[in-house]
Amino acid sequence: PLVAVLLGGPSSEREVSLSSGAECVKALKAAGFRVTEIDPGAGIAAQLAEAAPDVVFNALHGRGGEDGAVQGILEWMRIPYTHSGVAASALAMDKQKSKAVLAWAGLPVMESRIVSRDEAEAAHVLPPPYVVKPNNEGSSVGVYLVQEGANAPPKLAATMPAEVMVETFAPGREMTTAVMDGKALTVTDILTDGWYDYDAKYRPGGSRHVIPAEIPAEIFAACMDYAERAHRALGCRGMSRTDFRWDEARGLDGLILLEVNTQPGLTPTSLAPEQAAHCGYSFPELCRWMVEDASC
Ligand code: DAL
Ligand code: MG
Repeated sequence: PLVAVLLGGPSSEREVSLSSGAECVKALKAAGFRVTEIDPGAGIAAQLAEAAPDVVFNALHGRGGEDGAVQGILEWMRIPYTHSGVAASALAMDKQKSKAVLAWAGLPVMESRIVSRDEAEAAHVLPPPYVVKPNNEGSSVGVYLVQEGANAPPKLAATMPAEVMVETFAPGREMTTAVMDGKALTVTDILTDGWYDYDAKYRPGGSRHVIPAEIPAEIFAACMDYAERAHRALGCRGMSRTDFRWDEARGLDGLILLEVNTQPGLTPTSLAPEQAAHCGYSFPELCRWMVEDASC
């Protein structure tokens, strides 16, 4: 079959997607597929029609590619595609609404509110420490931390959206669990010098990953359980990745689910492929499985 890898696109995570996509192209070729690459723009439907692939491998991140928009076009065109469908993608990309569903499923999330930029800049919306972030971006783009004791709210960059999410800061260790075919893979403990920000995520050596995480069995099992339940509650398909913080001092009560990513990064420093490798799937095998799992 001919596989079209969607990569790049116009979102703020374009560079990340170009990196994910390049890895996928190599891996799919190694797995024996014929591969074509599409960097989508406004003419995406025509680009797809011209390429006429049997399957689309969606390696896009962020708005347009991860939020149900491209998935809707692929549904119309009846081209099977990897990862989640329209509804799960749209829901997961909206951090505030997805948290409402996750809380409804009994999963622990931090309190948050959606406010205008003006409100976020005028006064503390929540007691510090809290974070201000776009409601629908990834890779830590545009995340502000307001430290405990800060007397002024943050001044937000002009590139921030008109409405932002203000969320109580979840302290503790940064951990993550990928889900493949409804089953949690393992837990990674992410060690960084500062924050696990864009630089720490994508600069080689920017973070160290302990896999499987050396944490109490109860916390490990809870991450596995929460990630599977989150994947199910949002209706995800294929692979997803759920991010956590864990405040050790508070035991199980200190484990907070930050968010679910329906298009987890597939770059050389990304976490989900590393978990798959730990569980015995080489990257070409993982990509092959995604293609075989694709549907529309
Ligand atoms: N948003 C990035 C790609 C991730 O979640 O891995
Ligand atoms: Mg994310």
